[in-house]
Amino acid sequence: MPKYEGILRKVPIFSSLNEETLLQIDQVCIKMNYQKGNIILFEHDEGNALFFIVKGEVKISRESDDGREVILSLIHDSDVFGEMSLLDGMPRSANVTAMEDTELYMIKREDFLELLNNHPDVSIALLEEITHRLREAGMRIKSLSLNDAEGKVAMVLLQIADEKGKIKNGIVEIEKLPFQHDLANMAGTSRETISRTLHSFAKKGLVELEGSKLRIIKYEQFKDIYT
Ligand code: CMP
Repeated sequence: MPKYEGILRKVPIFSSLNEETLLQIDQVCIKMNYQKGNIILFEHDEGNALFFIVKGEVKISRESDDGREVILSLIHDSDVFGEMSLLDGMPRSANVTAMEDTELYMIKREDFLELLNNHPDVSIALLEEITHRLREAGMRIKSLSLNDAEGKVAMVLLQIADEKGKIKNGIVEIEKLPFQHDLANMAGTSRETISRTLHSFAKKGLVELEGSKLRIIKYEQFKDIYT
């Protein structure tokens, strides 16, 4: 199987495309590499390209008025970003930073719009992805409005579980939990609160922590309690 096909096939918005179209996409994509910590996109910049993550993880964040970082999402292999400015012509809505060494494919606005025109399936899949993000943003707004730390931290764990957790026998395992500092910036709380709450969840038998690995025991029950 050609390399491009394996990479592009994994991107959910391209899953319906045939090999010929994937090859056309590959030909117009520009491959890019970013080292851990590098900023890929700046909030407020003009945006005229879309990105797919081939390998790695990126942080979508904004700065609050008092200078604190607010992490909106952590996304990884096969995820797409940069669609908002591309579609509405407004400036970039957030900063995007490489959380580890990251390999990307970039596609220019005119090439992507041509693809959307010729392949309605890609438009529908992109709408699904945007809708999913809107739902997550709704959950995030709810969690930020909660007063209790447990609710805030639980919402963030559920978001990460949804993005990269693996479920087996009702237990969701998150292989590499973000650093507590980043969890705090996702939950809108302090690092100390994250540490205390994770230990409280563990004491209650809701989660198991093992190094950077976290298991949500009885995932469905956990969701029922906190959503
Ligand atoms: P764009 O605004 O072009 O550049 C920043 C990108 O971050 C944006 O497109 C989306 O792809 C992504 N983004 C912005 N807000 C969110 C969010 N709340 N959840 C996930 N991704 C987001």
